Amino acid sequence: MLGNLLKRNAAMSVFSRGLATGVAPEAQKLKTFKIYRWNPDKPAEKPKLQDFQVDLNKCGPMVLDALLKIKDEQDSTLTLRRSCREGICGSCAMNIGGRNTLACLCKIDPDTSKQTKIYPLPHMYVIKDLVPDLTQFYKQYKSVQPYLQRTSVPEDGKENLQSIADRKKLDGLYECILCACCSTSCPSYWWNQEQYLGPAVLMQAYRWLIDSRDQASKVRKEMLQNSMSLYRCHTIMNCTRTCPKGLNPGLAIAEIKKSLATD
Ligand code: SF4
Ligand code: SF4
Ligand code: FES
Repeated sequence: MLGNLLKRNAAMSVFSRGLATGVAPEAQKLKTFKIYRWNPDKPAEKPKLQDFQVDLNKCGPMVLDALLKIKDEQDSTLTLRRSCREGICGSCAMNIGGRNTLACLCKIDPDTSKQTKIYPLPHMYVIKDLVPDLTQFYKQYKSVQPYLQRTSVPEDGKENLQSIADRKKLDGLYECILCACCSTSCPSYWWNQEQYLGPAVLMQAYRWLIDSRDQASKVRKEMLQNSMSLYRCHTIMNCTRTCPKGLNPGLAIAEIKKSLATD
């Protein structure tokens, strides 16, 4: 009697274990991310790379997915910026595997034998971990007066009209999300950040320079006519190579130089 009871309990326990798992558990696919860490609250501690392992079978496909998974499940102090997770806000820009890009548009390399190193955007002051200080970048953006300027009112008193052809000239420029990937990949910007405006800001300067509705082009050009703001660009083209939106700030800079030379 007691023997039968024990056998039945053992059988039930095997049955319920099977129910709980359902299918054989999938093998883990562990990928190592080496992430730059620096804490301003502990200034005596040097910056370091910290290893985190993520099971790619339980993670979304993008590097931002892995970073958020690490922050949610392993270390909530890991600090990064992000908002839209679809390449629109520009806030998740960082250096991944040696390239400046957006974490939300960057696919995780599925090769688990290779580690992925993640740093903040290079040659910038770091606020914490993967967050760079963009104060100077935004100050420079503001300096090119990135808004429509007119001295006269439109003929109908209502709208500043633009031909389809003139509007087309803004394509490839207005899409910039100011992520700063290009500027922080530019060696000239690394060495002359205080005075050289850098590719992102110069592309926006060009965007307003060629807007057919804008009437401030003379002043805009004068602001760039000095040895540092524009001419520190030596056409190395790192900027265009790295832009995660596929834009061409190097070409925009070349166009500004051309228009200043032919004035
Ligand atoms: S040009 Fe490209 S890389 Fe540079 S700020 Fe704009 S979107 Fe970012
Ligand atoms: S093309 Fe000009 S702006 Fe672009 S990376 Fe080279 S030096 Fe910098
Ligand atoms: S989170 Fe907005 S661009 Fe990546």
